[in-house]
Amino acid sequence: MGQKKLIKFAAIKEYENVLEYPQGMPGKWNAFFQELAKDNLNISIDDLAINQAEKNSAENATAQKPLVLELACGRGEYAVGLGRMFASQNFVGLDLKGNRIWKGASIANRDGLKNVAFVRTQIDQVTQYFSKDEVSEIWITFPDPQLRLSKAKKRLTHPKFLRLYQQFLKPGGIVHLKTDSPNLYQFTKTVIELFGLSLITSIDDLYSTAFMQSEKWDERCSIKTYYEGLNIASSNRIHYIQFKLDKELPVELDEKLKDIIAEFEVTETHESLARNGKQAME
Ligand SMILES: C[S@@+](CC[C@H](N)C(=O)[O-])C[C@H]1O[C@@H](n2cnc3c(N)ncnc32)[C@H](O)[C@@H]1O
Repeated sequence: MGQKKLIKFAAIKEYENVLEYPQGMPGKWNAFFQELAKDNLNISIDDLAINQAEKNSAENATAQKPLVLELACGRGEYAVGLGRMFASQNFVGLDLKGNRIWKGASIANRDGLKNVAFVRTQIDQVTQYFSKDEVSEIWITFPDPQLRLSKAKKRLTHPKFLRLYQQFLKPGGIVHLKTDSPNLYQFTKTVIELFGLSLITSIDDLYSTAFMQSEKWDERCSIKTYYEGLNIASSNRIHYIQFKLDKELPVELDEKLKDIIAEFEVTETHESLARNGKQAME
């Protein structure tokens, strides 16, 4: 492993705003951010108070700040950018790669953003870190599109993942997806339609003048991530979807989803082969 990576891994171990595979965090995020704001350099998860939201006292309600999660955050441009925009909310970026998290965490430290923190872990384990109704919104920013049909279950908007998010997202909580992958965009719209979720916005060209000048434009979308700049899908477009996770997601429909995408994703391949003047494989 490179020297630079080792230095970053060592650095995040010392950062108070980075938690690596933390144990015992569900329900404690509000208290954690209160300690971070006090510049506590030795936060002990065991000593943090569990969120008392269920008591519903007026005092408690004002002390609770909405918690927003950025999944597959990489360098955490959204966690940091939103943290700057909304001082009255808390933001957690989650990713597996410590050297990427280091970037966002270092910027948050440098700029004194006490409402931004990071968790280094696997997204598959995300339910271990948040309690029921603890998260208000989720941003999924340029996740790996997992283009192969056999990998569809690894897409972060597959119902398998949405069911995990439902375990800690407030009722009717919102999910945002930003992607440069037309395939992931279409897939996510299919999931929303099949499961009857409430679609708030879907736009296949986020930065088109018409959309940016429309009332649907959301200033939060102007934050740019590292991968966004790479244009890996060569689509020269950024797709954006905002929807509510407001319905049950029956497992029985997963097979139907599989059939639907098998049809349109194969068709897409045939069409793109045809466009390129090649013969589609039967
Ligand atoms: C294409 S990058 C996007 C990073 C960032 N959101 C951006 O737009 O620049 C995808 C990110 O997902 C993370 N990732 C992929 N699979 C993951 C998993 N199972 N658990 C946690 N993070 C994962 C990778 O480490 C990587 O940082």
